Amino acid sequence: MCGIVGYIGHKEAQQILIGGLKRLEYRGYDSAGVATMDKNAKTTLLRSKGKVTELEARAQTHKTKDTVGIGHTRWATHGEPSKRNAHPHHVGDIYLVHNGIIENYQDLKHMLAKHDYIFKSDTDSEVLAALIDYLNKDTSTLLEAVTGALKMVVGAYGIALFSVKDPNEIIIARKGSPLIVGIAEGEVFIASDASALVGHTDRVIYLHDSEIGVCSREGIQLYDLDAQVVDAEVEKLELDLQAIQKEGFDHFLLKEIYEQPASLRSTLSGRINVKTNSVKLGGVNMSDDELRDIRNIMIVGCGTAYYAGMMAGYFIEQFTDDITIRSEVASELRYRSFHVPDNTVALIVSQSGETADTLACLQELKRRGVKCLGIVNAVGSTIAREVDGGVYVHVGAEISVASTKAFTSQVAAITMFGLMVAQAKGASVKALNTYVKELYLLPGEIEAVLENTSTEIKKIAKEYARFEHALYVGRDTQFPIALEGALKLKEVGYIQAEGYAAGELKHGPIALIDDRFFEVYFLQDNWLYEKSQSNLIEMNARGAHAVVITNTDKRISAEKVVRIKTKLEILTPMVFNVVSQLLAYYIAVARGNDVDQPRNLAKSVTVE
Ligand code: G6P
Repeated sequence: MCGIVGYIGHKEAQQILIGGLKRLEYRGYDSAGVATMDKNAKTTLLRSKGKVTELEARAQTHKTKDTVGIGHTRWATHGEPSKRNAHPHHVGDIYLVHNGIIENYQDLKHMLAKHDYIFKSDTDSEVLAALIDYLNKDTSTLLEAVTGALKMVVGAYGIALFSVKDPNEIIIARKGSPLIVGIAEGEVFIASDASALVGHTDRVIYLHDSEIGVCSREGIQLYDLDAQVVDAEVEKLELDLQAIQKEGFDHFLLKEIYEQPASLRSTLSGRINVKTNSVKLGGVNMSDDELRDIRNIMIVGCGTAYYAGMMAGYFIEQFTDDITIRSEVASELRYRSFHVPDNTVALIVSQSGETADTLACLQELKRRGVKCLGIVNAVGSTIAREVDGGVYVHVGAEISVASTKAFTSQVAAITMFGLMVAQAKGASVKALNTYVKELYLLPGEIEAVLENTSTEIKKIAKEYARFEHALYVGRDTQFPIALEGALKLKEVGYIQAEGYAAGELKHGPIALIDDRFFEVYFLQDNWLYEKSQSNLIEMNARGAHAVVITNTDKRISAEKVVRIKTKLEILTPMVFNVVSQLLAYYIAVARGNDVDQPRNLAKSVTVE
């Protein structure tokens, strides 16, 4: 989604801002812009539709030595992607960039129009710039105008702005949309995402909701909405340059698929003990008694995080008999009249920790007094801060829009939580043995699958990239990965893909099978093998172009059979999923798609 950068210091701001915007490209956007200001308050505003490289080309012919500036990548909400709607917005004395949505912008626009403001864009953000400009005419400081304006707006915002009345100051504020400030000697860096700060400084301040920061070359002073001083906590940024570079891979997506053995090891590290068959999650903040009392686990997330919750739910059900699991799509749950039984713990799953719908569910659940734990990757993110405890998955920066390594580690983290609850409930060490052992083996098994199947999958992908439709099918624990596999193919392959439970085929989707479709069939050799196989036979009888991903040695008739050798039993779908990630990746490459920044998508969906 939209990205914000800002800089005030002694270096040339334009280059720093454009460099920062490039780091934010992965979040998804459709236009970009920067505004800078020199010592005499002379400003330069550059905006362009499309990629940051277009903006960079414009900057080549409009170079400035200005040392103050703000920049933005926009993912259109109000108004089409265009130069006119791109940020920064300039109204009167004010230049402003904004992430989020101002819900009452129509009313404010109407009011401001009566005071002769004329709007050049369709955005809610320009209205906020105009409001600040309008109030600033009667206030003695810009801070006063900003606090006044923010008290009038309804909605979510992360903003950075400057006024030509003060060439030595940038003001920032947040409510529901992240902002991070990096501090260095005589410089302040501003970003909506830590990746833009890497390499500049590792001393950072995460803004909290309803905080306003006044940035100057002396540093930053934080205030609340009543302009009262707030103390800032400086933290160390745990992100290095290596994590945000491709390191020889053609795409971040491929790099992240290949990182899974290592990222999963870091999720498991220090948490599972194969010698004692036990699990210990430090951040859960619940006593054994509290864990023992859990009767319901509600898992909430969006997109891949939702499927990770669903996958782990299937596993947890197998080793606990008095816990009811429900997996919920956050965007639905938040508006439903849902009921939460007693003894429920909610797991809030989010890679970015910023997804608007997931955050809204967290807030609603907390309002109802439900214990909420985060399964989050981004350290210091809003969800991570607002939950009662949780498990960081520690997979490092996930740059590609399509989530891969986060999925694998989210499943592992939730499963570990389930194991910890089962342990507290007195499940025998023996009963948990297989799960702990398989979690421990999983990184190595993924490594082997990557090594042994990549070339074969690449070949298959080239052949199947011609299809415009796909059906992903699986039964039992293969079903969540059928859904996740179909999502991956939609996201990066731009192929219409449906994930279906094998037993549901006859209830509709089998009617789709024809030469325009191919099918990905997850077939695990377990107690349901015969049943799953008969669904495959039914599909084949109707001319399916099936690619079967299986761990069996038995004879299978299908167009393609990808055989996986694995020591795993229960967690087998987790390695099948890696094959399916590779398939989506290589199909996307074969189709010439923008793999890391697929059209219309955003990495972190911070608006509804
Ligand atoms: C977006 C991303 C997906 C991600 C989903 C949830 O749709 O493109 O990759 O799974 O949001 O994001 P979260 O950060 O909450 O896990």
